[in-house]
Amino acid sequence: MSRPEYPNLDIVPVAQRIAPEQRQRILDNPQFGAFFSEHMVTIPWRQGVWQRGSLVPFGPLTLSPATSSLHYGQAVFEGLKAYRHADGRIFAFRPGMNAKRFASSARRLAMPELPSERFLEAMEALVREDRDWIPSAPETSLYIRPLLFATEAALGVRPANEYLLVMFSSPVGAYFPRGMAPVNLWISTEHVRAAPFGTGAAKCAGNYAASLEAQALAKTMGCEQVLYLDAIQRKFVEELGGMNFFMVLRPKGSSGSAPLQELTLVTPDLSSGTLLAGVTRDSILRLAPDLGYRVEERPISVDELQEAAQDGSLCEAFACGTAAVITPIGSLASAKMKVVLNGGKTGAVTQSLRDQLIGIQYGQRPDPYGWMYPIQ
Ligand code: COI
Repeated sequence: MSRPEYPNLDIVPVAQRIAPEQRQRILDNPQFGAFFSEHMVTIPWRQGVWQRGSLVPFGPLTLSPATSSLHYGQAVFEGLKAYRHADGRIFAFRPGMNAKRFASSARRLAMPELPSERFLEAMEALVREDRDWIPSAPETSLYIRPLLFATEAALGVRPANEYLLVMFSSPVGAYFPRGMAPVNLWISTEHVRAAPFGTGAAKCAGNYAASLEAQALAKTMGCEQVLYLDAIQRKFVEELGGMNFFMVLRPKGSSGSAPLQELTLVTPDLSSGTLLAGVTRDSILRLAPDLGYRVEERPISVDELQEAAQDGSLCEAFACGTAAVITPIGSLASAKMKVVLNGGKTGAVTQSLRDQLIGIQYGQRPDPYGWMYPIQ
C-alpha cells in the first residue's frame, strides 16, 4: 500500500501487533540490541538503481549461501537513536549525519550510496510505524540499525551487482551491562584496528570482526574495551573500535580544582583516515566550548597519556558513541603500564558533558544546535 508521505515506499504492516503487555515487559528492561521492533524497511538496489522500498514485518531474510557479502564482506551499517520526550513527541538525533556517513562508508566499499532523502524517509516510516516501541524510562531509546550488504549470489571477487538495504530497530537501555559505571581499557600493542588508506573511517562489518580477538584478549586482562594504536608507529591512540576516545587535561601543576576554562578536552584528529568520524564525537566537540571547555583535535601519544597520568594533568577520560553515549574510563592498562583515572570514578567534566548531551536528546535542555529531528 503506498502512502503520500512516503513516495518511495510501500507500507505493509504486520497483520496483528504484539500484545501491549508483552511489549511493555520488553520495554521495562530492554538491555542493548536484544529485542527488535515489529517492522523493517527494505530497499533493493538492482540494475544500477535504487528500487522502490517496502516497510514490512520484521523477520528473517532468505539468502543464497553464495551471497557475496557473506564471503567478501561488502557490508556497511549505521547506528542512530530516536527518543520519546516527556510530552510524548518523538525525535531522532542528527540522522542526516548518519545518512551521509552511511553513503561514504558504502562508497569506500565500492557499494551504491543511498541518497540521504531515502535514508530519512525509511527512518521516519520505521519510527512512526513502531513508535510504541520507543521506551520512555531514563537512558532508554529506540536504536535504529540501517544495514547495506551485497546480495548477489556470485563468487567472483568484484563489486556485487545487487544489494539490499535493511533498516530495523531495537528498544535499548545502556550499552554496557554495568550502565554508566567506568570501563577499563586495554591498550593493544598486538592488534591494530585500521591502517592508513584502509577502511578505518568506514562503518563496515569487517572492522568490527577484526576487533573481536583483541576484545577477547582485553577481557582476560580485566578490561571491557580495547584502545587501539596507530598501525604504523604503534604510538598514537586512535579509537576503541566501536567508540571514540577523549581525555581531559588540566594545566600541569594545577590543583584538582582548575577553573573550567583551563580544562582541555583532547581527542585524536581524523586526518589519518583511520578513525570513524563519530556523531557523538562531533557533538561533544561542539557542546564542550559552550560549557566552557577548550577542545583540541590532535594526535595523542601513549607516552603523553602516561606522563599526564603521572603528573596529574590527565584528570579524566571517556569513550563516546551512539550506543555508549558518554562512558567514563576508569583505567588504562597495557603490557607495560596501568593508570587509574579520577580514582576509577566518573569525573565532573565527563558527567557535565553527558548531562548536557542527554538533556538535549531527551528534550530536557534547549537544543540551540538544531540537532533534534522531529518525527510527527
Ligand atoms: C554505535 O554506537 O552505534 C556503534 O556503532 C557501536 C556498536 C554497537 C557497533
